Amino acid sequence: MKTIAINQYGPATEFNLLELPKPTPTADEVLVEIHAFSINPMDVAGRQGQLGAPFTDQWSFPLVLGWDFAGVVAQVGAHVTNFALGDRVFGAIASAHAATNGTYGEFVAAGTEELAKIPAGLSFDQAAALPIGGMTAYYGMTHSLDLQPGQKVLVQGGAGGVGLFAVQIAKALGAYVATTASANHRELLMQLGVDQVIDYHETSPAAVLHDFDAVFDTVGDIETGLKVLKSDGKLSTIAGQPTPAQQHDQNKQVAFQFTQGSAADLAALADLVVTGQVQLTLTTLPFSAASVTQAHQTIEGHHTTGKQVIHVKD
Ligand SMILES: NC(=O)c1ccc[n+]([C@@H]2O[C@H](COP(=O)([O-])OP(=O)(O)OC[C@H]3O[C@@H](n4cnc5c(N)ncnc54)[C@H](OP(=O)(O)O)[C@@H]3O)[C@@H](O)[C@H]2O)c1
Repeated sequence: MKTIAINQYGPATEFNLLELPKPTPTADEVLVEIHAFSINPMDVAGRQGQLGAPFTDQWSFPLVLGWDFAGVVAQVGAHVTNFALGDRVFGAIASAHAATNGTYGEFVAAGTEELAKIPAGLSFDQAAALPIGGMTAYYGMTHSLDLQPGQKVLVQGGAGGVGLFAVQIAKALGAYVATTASANHRELLMQLGVDQVIDYHETSPAAVLHDFDAVFDTVGDIETGLKVLKSDGKLSTIAGQPTPAQQHDQNKQVAFQFTQGSAADLAALADLVVTGQVQLTLTTLPFSAASVTQAHQTIEGHHTTGKQVIHVKD
């Protein structure tokens, strides 16, 4: 099968088109013919050699990166009962995957813990954009922050791969949503229903927001988030490690979010998209090493808009 692989850790130009054997699914896995995959900042960290155990436990070169995918079930393991040949599915493979079993290829062997059927009305490209970014936001809004209607939430970094999901899920839950973004993202965020967009280059959110119930930090700025939070509010960060002092700031609940995606949550998220409550902003590129290089470089620039998706086949 065709893959986009690297032969050593390094810059985004390391990617090459490489022919490798198809992965063999275990009895608990399905083999999926990939139609699209999406790229996350953790892929960039993996390519740069910045990830450690458990991610890299089975890695060697050539290495096929990637966790998010959407495609069609091509083979079903003997113990798998809830998926059948030909099912349109999407999800994320386990964090610790084998070196040649990433999603930047034509096939991937996937467990069923984070696998769901693609509902009617959702394309492969759209479905591939949901797993890590969407699930991280969904888990943040519904589990970590447990947002309730009428609560006020600040999403730091509203225009990114996670942020665009987070602001819309928060709105769907009935929250008042403020977010930080560069000026070029203001119009998009307002169109998506965000109540207040703050250009963080000009104004600190701490200067204009007070007594918020919740903060979702996707950029690693816990200190600013804490200033916005009320004394018993909740802050969840996916991009920084709270210090002991930050964790003991009044009665605020401050924690790093370890996202636990599930098939049920994936299905709920897909439903939000199909019903128009969450709109997707995608940059879709064709299946080539140059496309993967471009998507990695975009993410490395730290100013992406939504998700970068690679379209593998129709
Ligand atoms: N813990 C977990 O489970 C988990 C899961 C997924 C991701 N993550 C981590 O979460 C982070 C975000 O992921 P992502 O996929 O959303 O990344 P991303 O798409 O690369 O995020 C880019 C966005 O960040 C914004 N940004 C950059 N600096 C900012 C700042 N100082 N203030 C406000 N916004 C800023 C940019 O907005 P502007 O262009 O508008 O400035 C851009 O839209 C990454 O560090 C990723 O590794 C963690």
